[in-house]
Amino acid sequence: MRNFYLDFSTKIYFGKKQIKKLGKAIKPFGDKILIVTGKGSVKKYGIFDDVIKELKKDNIEWSEYSGITPNPRLKEVMKGIEIAKKGDVDLILAVGGGSVIDASKSIAFGKYVSGDLWEYFVEDKNVEKALPVGTVLTVAATGSEMDGNSVITNEEKKQKFSIHSEKIKPKFSILDPTYTFTVPPKQTAYGISDIFSHLLEQYFSPTTTDWWIPDRIAEGVLKTLIYWGKVAYRDGYNYFARANIMWASTMALNGITATGKITDWATHKMEHELSAYYDIPHGEGLAILQPYWMEYVLDSETQERFAIYGRNVWDIKGLSDEETAIRSIKKTREFFNSLDLPSKLKEVGINGKYIEEMAGNLEERLGKIGGLKKLSKKDVENIYRMAL
Ligand code: NZQ
Ligand code: ZN
Repeated sequence: MRNFYLDFSTKIYFGKKQIKKLGKAIKPFGDKILIVTGKGSVKKYGIFDDVIKELKKDNIEWSEYSGITPNPRLKEVMKGIEIAKKGDVDLILAVGGGSVIDASKSIAFGKYVSGDLWEYFVEDKNVEKALPVGTVLTVAATGSEMDGNSVITNEEKKQKFSIHSEKIKPKFSILDPTYTFTVPPKQTAYGISDIFSHLLEQYFSPTTTDWWIPDRIAEGVLKTLIYWGKVAYRDGYNYFARANIMWASTMALNGITATGKITDWATHKMEHELSAYYDIPHGEGLAILQPYWMEYVLDSETQERFAIYGRNVWDIKGLSDEETAIRSIKKTREFFNSLDLPSKLKEVGINGKYIEEMAGNLEERLGKIGGLKKLSKKDVENIYRMAL
């Protein structure tokens, strides 16, 4: 078990009508903001109007940058940086899902970068300064509302890389589950698969199983997703389903389930390659790859952890460790399928053409990937091929 430091500094306003706290949350940073949004959903469903009403009430000036696409592009970030550099901005307010929040975070630190912004992603450079970022979350998925990550795609280079810094962690996030009522079933399922995968990436670890707290918390959140995920998928306007999924999103990546642990993240790294090459939704790629990764790394060394997962999360009883482990992977795949998520790359139009290239990219940049098992280029190719 590792020692750890945890920064929980993001203020969370959770529940119906918490937008009313927006002015109070912004004021400590100033009274001129840049609002960043996506392609239009927040305007269509009235969330943007709610934001503007609060800003007017509290005499906060705003300018707006809209049009961020899912899997946000570097060129969109660069355009946002230009706006932020010209204007007098005290805070960036992201109103949207993970893509809008991630773009906002990169705009926030990009404002102070004079050289090549992409170098920060490639070389994992230290972020020294950033504008404060606040969020109004409208999709439960990434955990970006309470983490220091920003994931950006450089289309020309076919690279989807992330940067991590406490400097870009949101200062506050407004989490009103009713703002996710209108998220379509497909997008809801992508979000659930992303949250599920975040938890598994931290759960499956070589850290001793005697260190309980992060894993017992993760199991609770996983069980929440298994129960409420199906409800949210079928009945988007169910408040408790949306509320449970929204808080699961935040809990899965705010650091708490990684405390004291070595984590894995191989599946995410492999998925980011897929998104970079094929622009598929992140949650869709994860739903396909995660069970194959599980099958690939399951052996006599890792079996115990899979068996704990099977017993505590899937309530599998009366079987040997090996049988429980195998059953737990089957259950995981069935869960994704119950949300109509695919199990094969070919279902989303991906063939074997770039497998070697994608695996090679990972090896070149990161060497072996993963924490539970160290995966070589050959291993990564094997997992992609199993998923074809
Ligand atoms: O663009 P608009 O019109 O807003 O539509 C969006 C978009 O099409 C729509 N949407 C958002 N709120 C809605 C809504 N539709 C109806 N009602 C609402 N209330 O949903 C679509 C998807 O939005 P997006 O922000 O792309 O989804 P998500 O939150 O899943 O974000 C995905 C991105 O985050 C990255 C992913 O790789 C991907 O680029 N990730 C970020 C992480 C982080 N920062 O920590 C970690 C993750 O592992 C992940 O990599
Ligand atoms: Zn993810």
